[in-house]
Amino acid sequence: MARDLASAARMVRDAGTVRVVTHIDADGISAGAIADITLDRLGIEHTVGFEKKITDEVVASVNSSPEDLVWICDLGSGYLSQFDRDGLVITDHHVPDPKWRGRQTLLDSFCGLQHLNPHTYGIDGSFEVCGAGMTYLLSKEIDPANVDLAYLAVVGAVGDFQDSSNQRLVGPNAAIARDAETNGDLLIEEDLRFFGRDTRPLVQYLQYASDPSIPGVSDNAKGCLDLLDSLGIPPKSGGRNRSWSELDPAEHDRAVGRIMEILGDDARKAYGEMYRITRYDRKSGLGDAKEFATILNSCGRYDDAPTGLRVCRGDVGALKTAEENRAEHRRHISAALSYIRDNHLLRERRFIQWFDAGTEIKETVVGIVAGMVLSSSDCRRNIPIIAFADSEDGVKVSARANRDLVDRGLDLSEVMKTAAEIVGGFGGGHSVAAGATIPADRKEEFLDIVEDLVSSQIERSETPGGRVRSIHPS
Ligand code: C5P
Ligand code: ZN
Repeated sequence: MARDLASAARMVRDAGTVRVVTHIDADGISAGAIADITLDRLGIEHTVGFEKKITDEVVASVNSSPEDLVWICDLGSGYLSQFDRDGLVITDHHVPDPKWRGRQTLLDSFCGLQHLNPHTYGIDGSFEVCGAGMTYLLSKEIDPANVDLAYLAVVGAVGDFQDSSNQRLVGPNAAIARDAETNGDLLIEEDLRFFGRDTRPLVQYLQYASDPSIPGVSDNAKGCLDLLDSLGIPPKSGGRNRSWSELDPAEHDRAVGRIMEILGDDARKAYGEMYRITRYDRKSGLGDAKEFATILNSCGRYDDAPTGLRVCRGDVGALKTAEENRAEHRRHISAALSYIRDNHLLRERRFIQWFDAGTEIKETVVGIVAGMVLSSSDCRRNIPIIAFADSEDGVKVSARANRDLVDRGLDLSEVMKTAAEIVGGFGGGHSVAAGATIPADRKEEFLDIVEDLVSSQIERSETPGGRVRSIHPS
């Protein structure tokens, strides 16, 4: 990887003009910001554009772009065999295209293709390093002074839930977090890992706690008030709602102790590292990496990724627009969750569960919603969830699973790619989170294929002659 980074750094430095293409999610926007700032600092003329996914049109436009170099961030690896231009750098972490030769060769370097993806170096791109992380590693190779961008890579990793499997960042992600910490941009704190510690009122912070949910507290406003009351913690101060991060140390310790006690065996999953971005005030919504990532998602997934990019560049003027986007995101997510629940849309099959949101949920958000449904109490945690939403070019599919299933052989990226191709679509992603686009009239057939693939992946990895165990309906 060090050799490939050095060679990619040379390609970037030598380019007169660069076109950056990046993904619209939090990781993609952070990656795009890192590339953008890096190129600014080099004084290289460049543009930054956002894509929801790689389509045939994107491939054609990358191949024919007049710039010296196209730098694709957080996208591209899954479609490698389709690019044929000279001057292409990819910093991605999606599962690489199996039709590609799999490893950077001398020929690639000669032709001006530099593919930087953790999977090709034996590093797991679903939780050890993300698109922004790979982009940062290249940026730091270009100039060690770019270490001040490490915190953006932490936001990207957290935005892609890379900290979820171990309740902390690990591998290259952890090294990047240390870079940010050493540079004074990040504080690594041990805390409960629920969302919204800075900006949610205390009661909501507890009420919406999920993955794991807190029995008697999650989804139960009265339970939250009773808990706070029994701990002697006032939910308001001076008539204003307090947040979790405003608790004084004694209150914080009491609350953590009691919540861990209630959680019992699940306590381990609720506690770990949280990442504080030191340059921002807590109330700004940018002071906590998870909340920062949500702001970026609420821009990118609602066709306003450029505002997210401006936020990453420190443009506080963009924050107001981002804040409006976040309010819209909140409304959309909450309406989406109620829509699924009220209409009993979640259906169970033997090895998968699924829902079809039709036109009610945006295709760019259906994956986030599927992840939330999977971690809620409405749902079986031990089988994957598949979600459909109508999109311009067919039906968008999002798939999510828990890491224990991945440990037992599941790879949703392969499932989405294979099943989508069989029904005339395309897909890919990561082992725990993947997606596809398929023709609208092939959903049932697609589900049948997905179910077969999921069961055979898990069966394959079980002991010889052994049966599928905990994936059975329970
Ligand atoms: O859209 P969603 O959030 O469900 O996507 C999950 C993951 O799958 C993302 O990392 C996305 O880039 C990837 N994906 C893909 N090809 C698609 C759709 C999604 O590689 N057609
Ligand atoms: Zn990503």
